[in-house]
Amino acid sequence: MSEALVSVEDLSISYASEAGDVQALRHANLEARKGEVIGIVGESGCGKSTLASAFINLVAPNAKVTSGAIRFQGKDILKLLESQKRQIRGRHIAMIFQDPMMAFNPVLPLGEQLIDFQEHRHDVPRSEKRARATAMLERVGIPDPAYNLGRFVHELSGGMRQRVAIAAALLMTPEILVADEPTTALDVTMEAQIIHLLRELRSDHDGAIIVITHHLGLIGELCDRVYVMYAGEVVEEGRTEDIYHNPRHPYTKALIDCDPAHLDEPVAFLPTIPGRLPDLVALPSGCSFADRCPIVQERCRTTSPRMIETGPQHRARCHEALR
Ligand SMILES: Nc1ncnc2c1ncn2[C@@H]1O[C@H](COP(=O)(O)OP(=O)(O)OP(=O)(O)O)[C@@H](O)[C@H]1O
Ligand SMILES: [Mg+2]
Repeated sequence: MSEALVSVEDLSISYASEAGDVQALRHANLEARKGEVIGIVGESGCGKSTLASAFINLVAPNAKVTSGAIRFQGKDILKLLESQKRQIRGRHIAMIFQDPMMAFNPVLPLGEQLIDFQEHRHDVPRSEKRARATAMLERVGIPDPAYNLGRFVHELSGGMRQRVAIAAALLMTPEILVADEPTTALDVTMEAQIIHLLRELRSDHDGAIIVITHHLGLIGELCDRVYVMYAGEVVEEGRTEDIYHNPRHPYTKALIDCDPAHLDEPVAFLPTIPGRLPDLVALPSGCSFADRCPIVQERCRTTSPRMIETGPQHRARCHEALR
């Protein structure tokens, strides 16, 4: 197994709020190796975007890193100077946002911006940068790239915007590409096209790709390994096929049962997991899934479970994981 390209070690992040500190991420550990696509999955509010923001070193102003590190090229990127952080962002670690408008300036033609995204390539003349931008638009399936380079972001459809945002991220040739909910804003047909595109791209990207989603189907189609998050914690990790076919955490099982692809016949209402996330300002003692857990035991209410090895490359944070 190759060495980790990036590793998140014991990372905790909280947000200051009027109600108290929101513990959005707690002691998270994960890693991505060269050539690997990893998935991070969990329902809304479980801390996925908080983790993504840490990867690109753009945490919210009210966020505080209370423990841990993100190691990349031998350094903790969270401890770099602002100028060093800027150098890494984009060039080494790039992000595809849920809303592609975030990636672009509304008043500049796309071509100019796609050239600017390559600014670190001092060796490449501007004309060649333009040619690379044209080729990349072609690659992500934008028709008539030369014409579209002259357009503005608001002139494109949602699906085209997301394609151009993916092209922009790839032009920066990052070692690590983080995609935070890359298909959530799109309709089903567009979503399928973007998944297809990401799948094609994975074969010629030799770094690591980190796909963040609440949509389990996306993980199955794209990822080698999965991290399942619940209430700010990684509660299960493993190879995609093990997570799907042999989930060890009751939360992962519930997520799979709610996945439309797992239903035998069409239903009027998709199933959801009963109950809600705990209050991240006042977390319960014991397991944070206890209130919603179908197999909850007495000790789950008092003692936080630790990560338990349940098989090769497979771990779950549950007292009952080996049942
Ligand atoms: N700047 C902030 N200030 C205070 N609380 C925040 C801030 N950003 C996020 N949170 C809270 O932190 C928790 C985790 O949020 P985060 O955006 O990381 O979740 P997520 O898994 O990305 O959710 P979604 O699927 O809805 O995008 C949530 O309870 C959220 O309300
Ligand atoms: Mg999010």
